[in-house]
Amino acid sequence: MSGDEIWKGLSAYLEARREIEGGLFIDDDTLETLKTVPAERYLSFESLEEFERRISGCRKCSLHKTRTNFVFGAGDPHTGLVFVGEAPGQEEDLQGKPFVGRSGKLLDEVLASFGCSRKEFFICNILKCRPPENRKPLPDEITLCEPYLWQQLELIKPKLIVSLGGVAANVMLKTNIAVYKLRQQVYNFRGMPLLVTYHPSWVIRNLPKNRPVFVDDMKKILDYYLSLI
Ligand code: URA
Repeated sequence: MSGDEIWKGLSAYLEARREIEGGLFIDDDTLETLKTVPAERYLSFESLEEFERRISGCRKCSLHKTRTNFVFGAGDPHTGLVFVGEAPGQEEDLQGKPFVGRSGKLLDEVLASFGCSRKEFFICNILKCRPPENRKPLPDEITLCEPYLWQQLELIKPKLIVSLGGVAANVMLKTNIAVYKLRQQVYNFRGMPLLVTYHPSWVIRNLPKNRPVFVDDMKKILDYYLSLI
């Protein structure tokens, strides 16, 4: 839901309560003042932690029926760099944390080779719940879950977003272009710079060939990030 839609709904609610309860509920001056505040301001009142608490019981799509845990994301809420993957896998579902399986270990290793740790960044996914058998996210699931990512990014306001893998890149850029054609270019995602790279699981599929490509991408990403902060 967009900020405008939320504010329209909220305004209608305030008007309706006022009609019943008059000035006892909210006086005219307060209502008029509230209306002058841009919708985005209302959304930014909440902390990332509060947002997580509020949405972690999500039942918008059927994935809530098969999940063990809602995987909101983890890391530094004040970071300048957010990594976005596809969806939780089995280990992530069990632990309630993103990228804690094989892919995550590889990501940690590559970050460590540049003297970095995931704790400095924030890591999350397009989908917050595991699709059964790790199948690809369905379009309806993406449509329902994507606004959570938008709001996470709105609250963190990173200097740079990095999508990991084709699903995240294609969802965020609304395209079907392959990662190898999208990488090493800066895109604009909702007013924030976005870089695209491979998913660590792609690296694992052919380590000797793919790892140097991923490491090189990550070096360029981290260098670019350092130039922004
Ligand atoms: N793959 C993803 O895209 N995300 C995770 O959290 C784990 C594996």
